Amino acid sequence: MSNYHIKNLEEYFQVYRKSVRNPEVFWEEIAEEHFMWRKKWNRVLSWDFSKPEVKWFEGGQLNITENCIDRHLYTRGDKTAILFEPNNPDEEALHITYKQLHERVCRFANVLKEHGINKGDRVCIYLPMIPELAVSVLACARIGAIHSVVFAGFSAHALATRINDADCKMVITSDGSYRGAKTIDLKGIVDDALENCESVDTVLVVKRIDSDVTMKEGRDLWLQPLLDEAYVDFSPEVMNAEDPLFILYTSGSTGQPKGMVHSTAGYMIYSAYTFKNVFQYKENDVYWCTADIGWITGHSYIVYGPLANGATTVMFEGVPSYPDFGRFWEIVEKHKITQFYTAPTAIRALAKEGVEHLEKYDLSSLKVLGTVGEPINEEAWHWYDDNVGKKKAPIVDTWWQTETGGIMITPIPFSTPTKPTYATLPFPGIQPALMDENGEEIQGNQVDGRLCIKYPWPSMARTIWGNHQRYKDTYFTAFNQMYFTGDGALRDEVGYYRITGRVDDVIIVSGHNLGTAPIEDAINEHPAVAESAIVGFPHDIKGNALYGYVTLKDIGEGRKHDNVRNEINQIITEQIGPIAKLDKIQFTNGLPKTRSGKIMRRILRKIAHKDTDNLGDISTLLNPEVVQSIMDNAL
Ligand code: WT7
Repeated sequence: MSNYHIKNLEEYFQVYRKSVRNPEVFWEEIAEEHFMWRKKWNRVLSWDFSKPEVKWFEGGQLNITENCIDRHLYTRGDKTAILFEPNNPDEEALHITYKQLHERVCRFANVLKEHGINKGDRVCIYLPMIPELAVSVLACARIGAIHSVVFAGFSAHALATRINDADCKMVITSDGSYRGAKTIDLKGIVDDALENCESVDTVLVVKRIDSDVTMKEGRDLWLQPLLDEAYVDFSPEVMNAEDPLFILYTSGSTGQPKGMVHSTAGYMIYSAYTFKNVFQYKENDVYWCTADIGWITGHSYIVYGPLANGATTVMFEGVPSYPDFGRFWEIVEKHKITQFYTAPTAIRALAKEGVEHLEKYDLSSLKVLGTVGEPINEEAWHWYDDNVGKKKAPIVDTWWQTETGGIMITPIPFSTPTKPTYATLPFPGIQPALMDENGEEIQGNQVDGRLCIKYPWPSMARTIWGNHQRYKDTYFTAFNQMYFTGDGALRDEVGYYRITGRVDDVIIVSGHNLGTAPIEDAINEHPAVAESAIVGFPHDIKGNALYGYVTLKDIGEGRKHDNVRNEINQIITEQIGPIAKLDKIQFTNGLPKTRSGKIMRRILRKIAHKDTDNLGDISTLLNPEVVQSIMDNAL
């Protein structure tokens, strides 16, 4: 039996037991047998959740790109590493082999070096889903620079916040991007952001849409001529196991986004090991994850996990609806996709368009289907199973987080019997716990509670960039000696987990994690707004949508509420991005508050859910009278 490749349920249980009984031996074997090291570690694990401090493979040295690229050159040099499928179906797909990827990454690494980027420097990458995005990520890793990829749907304000938080020296972007029939002026957004960023010396610009952009003298450079001049090889920087590999921002329930910091060795091992097993990847498979590399799903399961296994990984530039709702299935047929990994929101959006879009295409190559990002409802699960997998391709409902770096609770296809809406069993090495309100662990099955993890795993985030205290407060103080996920979960009679959703003020809209506080801050910038509160409410396609309760100052004669609604969404778009726009905005005379002045979101949530039969005790509120009027005018 190999610990590395689990092939049936019995093996899963054996491997799982070993991983829990003796985690260090378990991870050491995997690290030793399946990865390339420059120097062996002195110690597998040291940890203390009260600080919190976690170190894996201390003393070990390596470069992740040697593991993701160089070691495949002899055995798979001419195999496609990245298969790029452009936005426009008439533009030819591009097969980048491992040899070509090596050359591209080396050239890019030389360009970074020549422009003053060194080990430990932060580089912000703001690019659409084009090959340069993966190549720039890998080029940073090759020279030991810390990449901070910002999803190219974020606004200039959100981009500037992230650039400043990490003190990035460089931004890599493109003139613009294609998104279905539209183009987006990315360079313009970067220019606006950089008005407020002092740390950036250089902007490298990829030419993608051939638009007219302004290049700022002394700061902005076209990338291609630099790559053409650059040397084709670059000897990888030798990194310590615990050196930061990247920063990736995620929303918190309060305050600014959190720059989660991931390590080199632990992250590599866990993303690679989970990829191999969760997708049961075989040598000639063509794997496609539809996420954007701007999210953790793309980091771990488009770039690092697949490449560490020598896989062929698809990068899709476009959207599921362009030129029509058959696009995903056209791509599945065209490239004979074997593993397909997407989000419940995409499944629901496609299901709504009807099966005629699927019926035109041959989907028989599909072996494994995956979902991630939010709970998948039963209807969407069955639609996916019936129409996409034709009941032959197991669905892996994978639960994890930006903070966890890799998949934590998931079926192993062909081993774990699946159950709709259940993420099922913990991956080897993961020790979940359900906790009650008093901080006690709930034992046994058929129970629900707050989901925590009891023991370190290699790819857990090590800190929040520049704010270790916040890391501790957010994840390690709610429950003693445990990592708290922020999710609620239940465990059924056989020990399967079902994730029920966030128990904090994070709302997941179309699979995107949104904190309420930054959205409320944006709304409150509107001059007519006195106060606001955001809650989620169920939405057919997005899973959740945002419901805003807004108290206005006197908006004066002649001003229309509809204008204010549009203006609020406009501000949100500018401050955060269109994904955070509100679906419903209700103007209220006040917001229900506790005597200490805290907004009672629980009541607002119930009203938005149209679940007002049992509001609980409202008599202790400071202003119980507003509740009735909010209910009477609910949208
Ligand atoms: C939150 C993390 C992990 C990559 C994408 C999201 C929710 C994620 C599932 C799932 C139910 C899920 C959780 C989690 N979530 N996967 N399979 N079932 N909920 O990463 O943006 O960091 O969001 O997404 O609430 O805490 P993220």
